[in-house]
Formats: sequence, structure tokens, C-alpha cells
Amino acid sequence: MQTSSKTPLILGNWKMNGSLADNLGWVTRARHQLEKQPVHHVTLGVCPPFPYLQSLRQILPAQIALGAQDVSSECVGAYTGETSAAMLKELQCRYVLVGHSERRARLAETDGDVARKFRLAKHAGLTPVLCVGESQTERDNNETTQVITQQLQAVFELCGPEGFHAGVIAYEPIWAIGTGRTASPSDIEAVHGAIFEWLGKHQIPEASVHVLYGGSVKAENSADIFALEGVDGGLIGGASLNAGSFIDIARSANQTAQLAEPLAFARKSL
Ligand code: PGA
Repeated sequence: MQTSSKTPLILGNWKMNGSLADNLGWVTRARHQLEKQPVHHVTLGVCPPFPYLQSLRQILPAQIALGAQDVSSECVGAYTGETSAAMLKELQCRYVLVGHSERRARLAETDGDVARKFRLAKHAGLTPVLCVGESQTERDNNETTQVITQQLQAVFELCGPEGFHAGVIAYEPIWAIGTGRTASPSDIEAVHGAIFEWLGKHQIPEASVHVLYGGSVKAENSADIFALEGVDGGLIGGASLNAGSFIDIARSANQTAQLAEPLAFARKSL
């Protein structure tokens, strides 16, 4: 993030956790933290399970946008259990995760499914957060860049360069999700660099896309991760379930953004 002038984006992915009571406690705590010490230079959002979208949209602090964890690859009709992009938009969701590795792996979502979800989300006026990442075996076989490029390419082929405009990509190495193992700073910078290189090759302006890192980000390591080149924020799983640690992570991003501002200004005036 150091050299970028983008406002960092911090998204919480609650996965299948929470209850009405937990959510109320989370919101109360987050509101209190934000009132005590505002966090100005960061965009915030949370992606709760579907059943809680309706109640959370009424109680979340205005600064925290609502997101969903998935969306149907179909528009409307006889698809039992599915939720359409239009429904999410109606509930005032701003973001929706597409292609999270837990869905790709456990529910056999293909690159094609993910691309269709991305296109419908975009069409409905949502911001799809395209999750990409390699498995441990793929990393061991030096296939990381190839895997990620393939995941990006599937969306590009269906949506074109404009699909990525004002877009969000989350790099989440599968082996780092929920394991407590974060990728090393050089690995994160290398993959984020490869993603920006791919964007450049496809005539997608770097400045119009946020590239987030996800995988065992917590309050203790977030400042170091957000200071890395090409990291425009984070997708936070486990640590986002606690409102205090989610806001602490937002504060790290806020600090990095404030440090980066004079740097970006100095670079522009050179
Ligand atoms: P984690 O999950 O922060 O618990 O590793 C990240 C994610 O799956 O989005």
C-alpha cells in the first residue's frame, strides 16, 4: 500500500458464524470503538451470513458497508436455495465475495461459475470481490502465478477489462486461510505484483482496482502486511468476528494510509 494513494479497503468475512445476539454485540462494540476514536482513511465492510443481512443493514454504523459471501450464477427462477444479485442489491449490499476458495474447493465452483457470478453482481450494481489463490501443492509445484492468472482470465473473458473497473481482487493463499500461517512478505509482494502486471497487460488501470490480501490476518500482523507494496487492504476471516480486533485491523490500515499520503504526494511532485 505504501506507494498507492488508494483508500484501503478492509472487509470482514464472517463465514457461517454468529447469531442475532452476537451480531448485536458486535455492532455495539464496533460503534463504540469508532466513536471513541474515528478511523477516517479506510473503507470498511462486513459480509455476514445471508439470514442476517436484513437486520444488520438496519443497525450497522454508517461507515461499515454491507456485503454478502456469495451470489447465484443465475438471474432468477427455479434455483432452490440460491440468492440473486438483485436481491442482494435490494438489501443494500455493496460488496459480494465471489469464488472464495472454500466454495471453489468444497462446493466445486468452477472458474466459469465464478465468472458468471461476477458478471451478474457487477450488472446489479454490486462490487464483486474476486477471490483468487493457490493451494499448497500448487505453490510447491511453482504454479502460483499460473493458477491465479487462470482465475483472473476466466472473469476477463466474460466481462472484459471494464468488468474490473473499480473492482476488488482478494489474493488468499488457500494454505493461509484459517491456519494461522500468513504468507511471507516477499510472497505477498510477488503475487500482488503479478496481479498488477496481469492488469497492466490487459489494459486495466492499476489505480482502479484494489488488491487485498487475505489469510490469517490479525491485529498483530496487519500493520506489516498493509505496509507491503501492492497491498490495498485485507479480507479478514476469523479476526473479523471480534469487533475490537476488526477495528484494530482497520486502524493499522488507517495508519499506513496516513503514512503513505505524504509519500504519494512527494512522488507526484517529483
Ligand atoms: P482467515 O480467513 O482470516 O480466517 O484466515 C480469510 C478468508 O477466508 O477470507
